[in-house]
Order: sequence, then structure tokens, then C-alpha cells
Amino acid sequence: MVHFDVLTLFPSMFDGPLDESILKRAQESGRLSIALHNIRDYTTDKHHVTDDAPYGGGGGMVMKPEPIFAAVEAIVTREEDVPIILLSPQGRLFTHAVAAELSHCPRIVLICGRYEGVDERVRQHLVTDEISIGDYVLTGGELAAMVIIDAVTRLVPGALGHPAAVLDDSHAGGLLEGPHYTRPAVFRGWEVPEVLRSGDHGAVARWRRQQALRRTLERRPDLSAQADLTPRERELLAMWEGELHSQDDAEGD
Ligand code: ADE
Repeated sequence: MVHFDVLTLFPSMFDGPLDESILKRAQESGRLSIALHNIRDYTTDKHHVTDDAPYGGGGGMVMKPEPIFAAVEAIVTREEDVPIILLSPQGRLFTHAVAAELSHCPRIVLICGRYEGVDERVRQHLVTDEISIGDYVLTGGELAAMVIIDAVTRLVPGALGHPAAVLDDSHAGGLLEGPHYTRPAVFRGWEVPEVLRSGDHGAVARWRRQQALRRTLERRPDLSAQADLTPRERELLAMWEGELHSQDDAEGD
């Protein structure tokens, strides 16, 4: 069970993506709940202003600290051990490991930044963590919050119909997943690998592991270098690496 409190200036952005498929079912079965809080509701001035010009000049607007502090303080007390996460391109990078870590938290607060940024005092005195979903700049933290809600929820026990699916995920074991096939056995002349149709579960498992290793080496050598592998798998990897390099050399000639 995980509960997200999302602070945003655009709550309607969350309509739709969270109301379909697995996230919808997770909410219906009580494994996920999401409360959207409009930061504008926590302003105290007549015009409900949430942003202002930056001190020192320059372009863009900065989100004011008061409504953000007021919203968080209305939702959680300081004594509660709840992560208060600011979504921003300056945060630590969101990975499978971070999703797994968050999936153990019963409650998470996500603050979606907008405009040029958020007053630095929010970062210094309110949030406990800052997360980026990648090295690019979005127009705001809302899409990042949805990505986090999605990735964390599918790790909550029972959220996916088939628990083994989580263990086999790309990234879960430090490797990308290998290829998948379904019927028909032959499509436009392209055949499903024989081993998958053999009924030999051991052979299937070995083939899948090898395919995952190979794919990870080819696409994400940074991941295969760090993965938890057996000595035999390391040997295989070294052999393939040699092959790939000699291919590169041949192509370079
Ligand atoms: N807000 C703007 N860009 C972002 C990013 N890359 N990750 C998280 N929040 C963001």
C-alpha cells in the first residue's frame, strides 16, 4: 500500500494517466491512493499568487515559498517520517533502485515545480529529497511525478497480477530483459526461436538469461559492467565483448 500526496498548480494534468489499467486497479484494490493538492489553494492573498520575479533580476518567475510550505504543513506533521520530494532536473536520478526504495514507503509527498524554479528555501528547509527523471528539462514536475507514481506502484506487492513479472523486469536484476514472443510461431516467415517452443524450462531459462546478458552488453555496457553475474557469465561477456570489438575494427577498416 502506498499513498502519494501530490502538490501541483495543475491537478487536472493527472486526470487520465492515473485512471487506466494497472494504476486504476491498484487504486480500486486499495494498494495505491493519490491525493492531489492544488498549491494555489494555500495562498492567502486576494489574487492567489503562487510565483514572483526573481531577486537579483533576470527572466522567468520563481514559485513562492509560502503556499508550498503551507500545503506541506497542512498535509504532514514534521514528526512523521514521510519523504517530501521535490521534482526537479537538479535532483538525484530516478532509477529502478530509487523506485524500489520508495516502494517501501507507505506515504510519499511529491512537489511539482513549475516556472523557472522554486524558491531555494523550499529546497533547504522543507524537502527531504530531490529527484530528476532524466537529464532534460520538462515544463514542470507533473509528468515526472506521474512517472514516479507509475514505477513505484508496479513494485508494490499485489499491484501487478503476476508477481514474477517484477523480478524479470528490465533493470530489476541489473540487466535489460531479452526478447519476448507470442503466437503465431511463424509470422511473415520469421520464426520464434526453437528453444522457446521446446517445453524445456531449464533451457528456456538459460536462453533468456543469455539473451538478457547479450542485449545489455550491446545496448547498455555500463549496466552489464555493474551487474551481479556468475564467473561463467563474466567469461561469456568478455568473449562477446571481444567479438563486438573485432566487428567494430573490421567495420572501421
Ligand atoms: N522538472 C523539470 N524537469 C524535470 C526532470 N527532468 N525531472 C523531474 N522534474 C523535472
